[in-house]
Amino acid sequence: MTLRYSPYDESLWSDPWPVYKQMQAEAPAYYIEDLDCWALTRFEDIWQASMDRQSFTASHGTSPDALFLASEPPPHVFLFMDPPDHGKHRGLIARSYLKDKIALIEDHVRRVVRKLLEPMLEQGELDVYALSSRTALDLIAAFIGLELEEVLQIRGYINRFYQRESGVPGTTEAGVRAFTEAHGYILRLIDKYRRRPPAEHSHIVSWLGAEIDGQRLSDDQIFFSVFAMVITGSDTVPLTTASSIYYLDKHPDQFAIVRDDHALIAGVFEEAARYDQPTNLLGRRIAQDVELHGQVMREGQSVLFLYAAACRDDREFDAADKFDITRKQRRNLSFGTGLHFCLGQHLARLEGRVILEELIASIPEFEVEQGGCKRIFGEFLQGYAAMPILFRPR
Ligand code: HEM
Repeated sequence: MTLRYSPYDESLWSDPWPVYKQMQAEAPAYYIEDLDCWALTRFEDIWQASMDRQSFTASHGTSPDALFLASEPPPHVFLFMDPPDHGKHRGLIARSYLKDKIALIEDHVRRVVRKLLEPMLEQGELDVYALSSRTALDLIAAFIGLELEEVLQIRGYINRFYQRESGVPGTTEAGVRAFTEAHGYILRLIDKYRRRPPAEHSHIVSWLGAEIDGQRLSDDQIFFSVFAMVITGSDTVPLTTASSIYYLDKHPDQFAIVRDDHALIAGVFEEAARYDQPTNLLGRRIAQDVELHGQVMREGQSVLFLYAAACRDDREFDAADKFDITRKQRRNLSFGTGLHFCLGQHLARLEGRVILEELIASIPEFEVEQGGCKRIFGEFLQGYAAMPILFRPR
């Protein structure tokens, strides 16, 4: 079969892995002519590229919109910075996400999940994605230092910003409008919190008080930092929790072991993050010519890191296409690696595990309503964004 890949080819979206396998075998550095860019699919290549600070830069953005469609430079926030700025800016909030800090909030996370889950148990149906999304928004609101209602409002803008038209690559006019509205709204919040600062250990307090190399952060930098943390804090955990339930349902033998031994639940979330890795189409700009697999990727071109492909690479994982909750990963790429590795990975794992523990403990028998599952694929994300389950009401 002739190999053809485009990040905008909608025919690939429900099941991209056969084409990813073909790319790994036949063209591990795949050139996408229309976009004058490259796509990497092998675990080792993405791992090495993520570590290579000289050849690849995040300073032109990391999403397709920024890398091939936008002419404007991306906002000056740590997600789109290289050293030394990256460390200085990420460092403003990084301590809150350290493994031992995150472990301290487990009881709080459980209380949040239980409060949301309790009324749903009476109804006989719930959407695992929605439960998880609401949990993640509640928690990221506290980290940022915003009210839940404010974060819900921002999430509404993000949902509109994400909407795409079939056949049209990139942000739509409605998406641009939503982004502009989010900008205005968040600037008003910054003004409000400048006059009346929120909780002491919140990101807003850190950003408002920060001085880096003698400079305060601009309101636009704080705006985009808020926007980015709401996105990253609430996009991927719901997809991974939803897919955890989906794949458990598809593998009743593994579900049976988990029901008997809840200590295996952390492994379910970890395996779902590998098997159906949810971040999509992230990449970098090439800062100096790089030779890979006999081809030269030129300075100024862009390269996509297809994490979902790498996480199912047989060169790295035994039986990579098998969903196996007991799998031990030698190296983990589900949360990225190198400088831009996921800031929220410990929070993500805690949220995912607690949600799954509470669901499985409260509803040991349920059925996934297959017709209601909705799969999405876009510039930022892929996975199940609706995962309804049916059960006997309490
Ligand atoms: C299952 C859940 C998650 C997955 C699979 C995931 C995955 C990733 C990946 C692959 C990257 C690297 C991106 C790149 O190469 O450019 C990343 C970065 C990032 N993630 Fe996550 N993530 C998850 C949850 C979270 C959560 C809950 C937060 C909230 C705190 C978060 C915040 C971030 C941030 C801020 C970055 C950028 C780090 C930087 O540029 O230095 N993520 N994530």
